[in-house]
Amino acid sequence: MSITPRKLRFDLPEALDPVIIEGEPEESYINVAMSILLPHLEPYLIKTMRAAKRHVTKPALAADLEAFCAQEGHHYRQHALLNQALIRGGARGFEALERELASDYQRFHASKPLRFNLAYAEGFEALTTAMALVFTEEDKSKWNPAVLDVFLWHLLEELEHRTVAFEVYQHVVGSYPYRVAVGAYAQLHLLRFLLRAANAMLDADPRTETEFGGKAGRRKREPRLNAILFRKVLPRLFRTYRPGYSPRDLEMPVDLEALTAPYTARSRAERASA
Ligand SMILES: [Fe+2]
Ligand SMILES: [Fe+2]
Repeated sequence: MSITPRKLRFDLPEALDPVIIEGEPEESYINVAMSILLPHLEPYLIKTMRAAKRHVTKPALAADLEAFCAQEGHHYRQHALLNQALIRGGARGFEALERELASDYQRFHASKPLRFNLAYAEGFEALTTAMALVFTEEDKSKWNPAVLDVFLWHLLEELEHRTVAFEVYQHVVGSYPYRVAVGAYAQLHLLRFLLRAANAMLDADPRTETEFGGKAGRRKREPRLNAILFRKVLPRLFRTYRPGYSPRDLEMPVDLEALTAPYTARSRAERASA
């Protein structure tokens, strides 16, 4: 399947309640934290790929690398707009953690070797592929439809370009133990930010102790979230640590072409009317 960058405009209200999944503040804030992370992480991925491009001698892989960069460029710009609406809607408490994250990516880019940045990129892509596959299976009826539109478009494109960071890493670096070691570091670095930022935003939300039911409410909702993480996301992620793993061999339980078709049509229509 080819990688199609789809430039889209999303119909977002001026302000959005950060509880983007009705009745699920913890899950909502994890996804809001992911959205806050993306305008820092995805530009770092693009810079990494562009630095790797001069080492890529296969024309097909170089073309995939360009399509990957175009998709990621669209993603973080739309998430930045979404984040502004979420902040106007009350998301707060994450600011110091966001600054720390931004300085981590600047430091990685300035002082780490290309092989580290490529292995980090693949670690992130392996995690997003696992998350995207779970996302396509989960019930999304309680999601705010405007936010769901952005996340679905983004995660489908993540599935579409799932092979690129891996294949660039294999082509330019190739070491298996290094991929697993830095990939696991990348995933812990990301998950740590997501959990800390989500908790900070929950703490800052005045509804946490009232409407959301305080600690008792949280305890009631947590088993579902833990089941998604431990039974669905992590087993998929651990498979990417196997020596013979390639995202090319992953079975797609969804018809990616059918799911992306409406977004392809929308982006063509927007381009034609621009
Ligand atoms: Fe992305
Ligand atoms: Fe990606």
